[in-house]
Amino acid sequence: MLRLRPARADELPAVTELCLRSKAVWGYDAAFIAACRTELTVTLDDLRGSCCVVAEQAGEAVGFAQVSVAGDTAVLDKLFIEPACLRSGIGRRLWVWAVETAGRLGARRLLIDADPDAADFYRRMGARPAGTAPSGSIPGRRLPRLALDL
Ligand SMILES: CC(C)(COP(=O)(O)OP(=O)(O)OC[C@H]1O[C@@H](n2cnc3c(N)ncnc32)[C@H](O)[C@@H]1OP(=O)(O)O)[C@@H](O)C(=O)NCCC(=O)NCCS
Repeated sequence: MLRLRPARADELPAVTELCLRSKAVWGYDAAFIAACRTELTVTLDDLRGSCCVVAEQAGEAVGFAQVSVAGDTAVLDKLFIEPACLRSGIGRRLWVWAVETAGRLGARRLLIDADPDAADFYRRMGARPAGTAPSGSIPGRRLPRLALDL
């Protein structure tokens, strides 16, 4: 059974490694993943300043999502599924949590700066293309931006 629960301070290193393993499913090399480490590190400040949730199955963390809200705009900072658990509905569960969380906190739109290989997932979830945005990890790289009106 899958359950969603708040992320805990004592599991931040493990959750960070989950995010990095998940990012690597698209075939990036080690140097690329290393360049993403700072951006994908989940910190105590993230726990205090945003909404962070872990998807847990049989006592194991199998997914992580993070949403920040400022004014009427929410940002999906992270959505990462354990590689062995892809395509089993966990991403959708975390997406629904992110949408509900953003709406509950007063946001009118949710923005996602997506990995190019994840963009079709967000379109499947109902988000619309909304231009591009600079990567926070790789200078000069641009990412597809998607938006969902809430
Ligand atoms: C993108 C990601 C979060 C999707 O999670 P998931 O658990 O595999 O997705 P789900 O099983 O919940 O899929 C929900 C639906 O989206 C579809 N889908 C999932 N991934 C997809 C993809 N990459 N492209 C197109 N459709 C996709 C599924 O087929 C399913 O369709 P359905 O409506 O017919 O059931 C996951 O692939 C992931 O963690 N990728 C690596 C890290 C990453 O890039 N994260 C996003 C950072 S912006």
